[in-house]
Amino acid sequence: IPVEAFDLVVFGGTGDLAERKLLPALYQRQRAGQFSEPTRIIGASRAKLSDDDYRAFARKAISEHVKAEEIDDAQLETFLKRLSYVVVNAVSGDGFDDLKKKVGDSKAVRAFYLAVAPALFGDISQHLQEVGLVTPTSRIVMEKPIGRDLASARALNDQLAKVFSEQQIFRIDHYLGKETVQNLMALRFANALYEPLWNSAHIDHVQITVAETVGLEDRITYYDKAGALRDMVQNHILQLLCLVAMEAPSSTEADALRDEKLKVLRSLKRINGQEAPKSTVRGQYRAGASANGPVKGYLEELGNSQSNTETFVAIKAEIANWRWAGVPFYLRTGKRMATRVSEIVIEFKPIPHSIFEESAGNITANQLVIRLQPDEGVKQWIMIKDPGPGGMRLRLVSLDMSFAESFQERNPDAYERLIMDMIRGNQSLFMSRDEVEAAWKWIDPIRGAWEDSQQEVQGYTAGTWGPSASIALIERDGRTWHES
Ligand code: BG6
Repeated sequence: IPVEAFDLVVFGGTGDLAERKLLPALYQRQRAGQFSEPTRIIGASRAKLSDDDYRAFARKAISEHVKAEEIDDAQLETFLKRLSYVVVNAVSGDGFDDLKKKVGDSKAVRAFYLAVAPALFGDISQHLQEVGLVTPTSRIVMEKPIGRDLASARALNDQLAKVFSEQQIFRIDHYLGKETVQNLMALRFANALYEPLWNSAHIDHVQITVAETVGLEDRITYYDKAGALRDMVQNHILQLLCLVAMEAPSSTEADALRDEKLKVLRSLKRINGQEAPKSTVRGQYRAGASANGPVKGYLEELGNSQSNTETFVAIKAEIANWRWAGVPFYLRTGKRMATRVSEIVIEFKPIPHSIFEESAGNITANQLVIRLQPDEGVKQWIMIKDPGPGGMRLRLVSLDMSFAESFQERNPDAYERLIMDMIRGNQSLFMSRDEVEAAWKWIDPIRGAWEDSQQEVQGYTAGTWGPSASIALIERDGRTWHES
């Protein structure tokens, strides 16, 4: 379904995010026929480029980040015609008048995308307001990191709030745009099967794993200041936890959904200095191997042997409410791990009593495995009788739904969905100010505990599942990490 015409200004228009994600995503939406006339996309940054230079930049970005068979020459040309460029200095405000002239007094939906360092968010919004570019229906899009702790997140949110109302602010967590993450809501709330079991009476524990094989990539400065807790847990992992744990919202409207997630964040049991050593593990990769051969350790990649930044975190989280009391949520994420996999495992309680003889074999508790990426799918593990005349022998098998096998459609990138939702003004898949702040409120004490105790990061070999302390964290409770 086409969206109404819009003017999208991308600050950081020549940056990494624009190149890898935004321009390819916008091109895909062009190809899908979603743009109405006269939709325009304006790149803005410090680099001294002409409109044609910017089109060449976009052409290259698309050729590198879109599959060759998805490039349609006619659509690509139409797309490139929508692009133009303006040189701006976000700090001094130079160039904002030119931007104003370029946008003119068009009545189209107007959106500003901040694909720049957060330190510039406040200045940019200020300049936009000064030159009169902000209308009551304008929208502004913010990328993470939204702060590095509660205080800085509040300060950023305050800066934007001076110019934009909460309804105009779109805070991206790209995990919410992933098809399989949205599918979590369908699984829980479009099926009657799971919801009656979705609580502490029937669920033993939950595991959320987001493992990556990549290392630092080209993000040394950012990453070394952030670390895995801020980079992945504060946002993506907590959003996944919310979607698993929240009560049924009254609808999919933004406020209904975001309020339910917020209640979960506010119910997370605080992990203080005493609990942190038992409930958290921080790791850093050492030299090891990836699928493509040997890889350096974090400190060598960084060129600084002092850094205590974690590239791996495991946490035993607890939600203090009626539904979840006593059900641990084991969270883990890391760089340079054994495989790239994001998945959620719901482990149900064991059966109360077995009627079978020992010779029938062990009865394993049921697991629901929701695989977010790659090989997206849902598996329900159940016990069956091994077929054949050999008497009652029990076996664990999976009821399996693979997205690739079941559907032919291309799996759109999260940004395609999120940009279009933003243009439509639908905030359901974006984080509210309150959510971001509540997440930091839970993260900050963990950081604080690590800093106070100078809890060292534990080394793990690149290409493994993290430090042995992460295995101990879950095995102490008589449980094991699900091996993908
Ligand atoms: C980003 C993090 O938000 O998410 C990166 O900053 C991480 O460190 C990335 O690699 C993972 O996203 P995806 O979509 O590849 O799972």
